[in-house]
Amino acid sequence: MNEIDVLTVFIEEGYQISPKAVDLICTHCSPKELVAYILDNIDLSVLVIDVDHIDLEGFSGLLPMEEKSFSPSSEPSSQDEELNNNYNNYNNSSSSYQPSASSPKAVGSVCYSNNPVSILSDITDNSTCVGEYMEFVQFFRNRYSRISDIIRGRINARPIESLKTGKRTNFRGSKEAGEISVIGMISEIKSTSNGHKILEVEDPTGSFSVLIRMADKELYEQASHLVLDEVVGFTGKLTNDGKLMIVQKIILPDLPNTTIKRSGTVGKAVLTSDIHIGSTTFLEEPWERFLDFLNGDTDNEALAAIAKEVRYLLVAGDLVDGVGIYPGQEHELSILDVYDQYKKAAEYFSRVPSHIQIIISPGNHDAVRQAEPQPKLPEIIRADFPDNVTFVGNPSIVDLDGVKVLLYHGRSIDDLVASVPGVSYSDPTKAMVEMMKFRHLSPIYGSRVSIAPEKKDYFVIGNVPDILHCGHVHTVGVEWYKNVLLINSGTWQDQTEFQKRVNVVPTPAQVPVVDLATLKTTILKFDE
Ligand SMILES: [Fe+2]
Repeated sequence: MNEIDVLTVFIEEGYQISPKAVDLICTHCSPKELVAYILDNIDLSVLVIDVDHIDLEGFSGLLPMEEKSFSPSSEPSSQDEELNNNYNNYNNSSSSYQPSASSPKAVGSVCYSNNPVSILSDITDNSTCVGEYMEFVQFFRNRYSRISDIIRGRINARPIESLKTGKRTNFRGSKEAGEISVIGMISEIKSTSNGHKILEVEDPTGSFSVLIRMADKELYEQASHLVLDEVVGFTGKLTNDGKLMIVQKIILPDLPNTTIKRSGTVGKAVLTSDIHIGSTTFLEEPWERFLDFLNGDTDNEALAAIAKEVRYLLVAGDLVDGVGIYPGQEHELSILDVYDQYKKAAEYFSRVPSHIQIIISPGNHDAVRQAEPQPKLPEIIRADFPDNVTFVGNPSIVDLDGVKVLLYHGRSIDDLVASVPGVSYSDPTKAMVEMMKFRHLSPIYGSRVSIAPEKKDYFVIGNVPDILHCGHVHTVGVEWYKNVLLINSGTWQDQTEFQKRVNVVPTPAQVPVVDLATLKTTILKFDE
């Protein structure tokens, strides 16, 4: 609602209203609802409505009920047009927006005073592993059991043990004319001299070889995306000697196609990662502009309007640059002590408005164990941060007032770039699509990701989240896969010497902002 709309409503109802009161209503995040509330509750003796007559506290108390009236969004579009609605000219706006008594910070705290965060999954305080052999067995059995259950709903799979010689004849004469299915974890991928692919797959009863013929082009292309240690279903026929299955169909756990109704949550979530405070290449000036934006301290009206609606700030790892992460790192640090790096980070986060709930999970540069899943940062570090920060592990699932976000720093993207054709650092959401198809964040054991064998495999994507939020690769990417919004939230670090050597070009100081009602995403740029 603009000023004229507000004035018109009150005049039609027989009231006059002061300019300050109009300003307060117009800068509120729910002006229509606020107008209705004022008219319902105003004392009949009042002729001129002033700010003193507007009971924001009483209105705020009603918000949970009001929020339910927001309608869920329709089906999300794959490439929303708002993605192109970037704000490049951050410093060059001619807008006259000025923070005032009813500034976004004050208004925001009224609108969204209740910004609940529920942690749905997190290894923190639940780690039991010491790295023994049987723990690895249990870890992989947990993975197999949970992912095979997803696939089992789609195929009638048999235990691998039943494929062994002697039992094969049971399948002859069946309706499927010898067609059988198994669900296995891929333990080996190799090629024959003729170019066919042979996979060794295992279930708890045994292992078996399956063959994907080069001539089956579509199937072969699909098989080229398979990686070690993921759990997959195969349908096919046995060869005459019963020692090999010729694959006719590959069944991934994948996401269901069903449409998810949005919860109607209002407000916005800002997603970021890989800040790398303490590095000489940390982009302090753009970061300062970002903090100003969160405080509504901007002359750009569009940015100020977005800032007013921000309820959550999520950080998917690499808060600081750390120490001893790679050889010679000390030459690229502006803050040499890791505790001083976190103290600086705490200073920055203390400047985020207190009504914004901040969720921080660690990455491979942070001061927690490198083996994943990683617990949240330790108390000695957390103690310096303000109360509106919730620390979680990596990965973790958080519920933001009805919107479920799976946070994972994304170390496994290194493995996927190396293993899956078409997956690259410049387009990080392609790796995230593979994660969704695998229903697993980090399937490959023994490569870049050091995996701690916990009782439960925290990387399995059981319940489908609304948003998968990753970082690590320092490039921004936003994509829809089925009903899940995939976001890689970039970095606040300029290109490092290492990145120059391996030709990785980061996209720093760009911040995806998600509308929690529709999951439409806008990328704000703070680099100019
Ligand atoms: Fe990073």
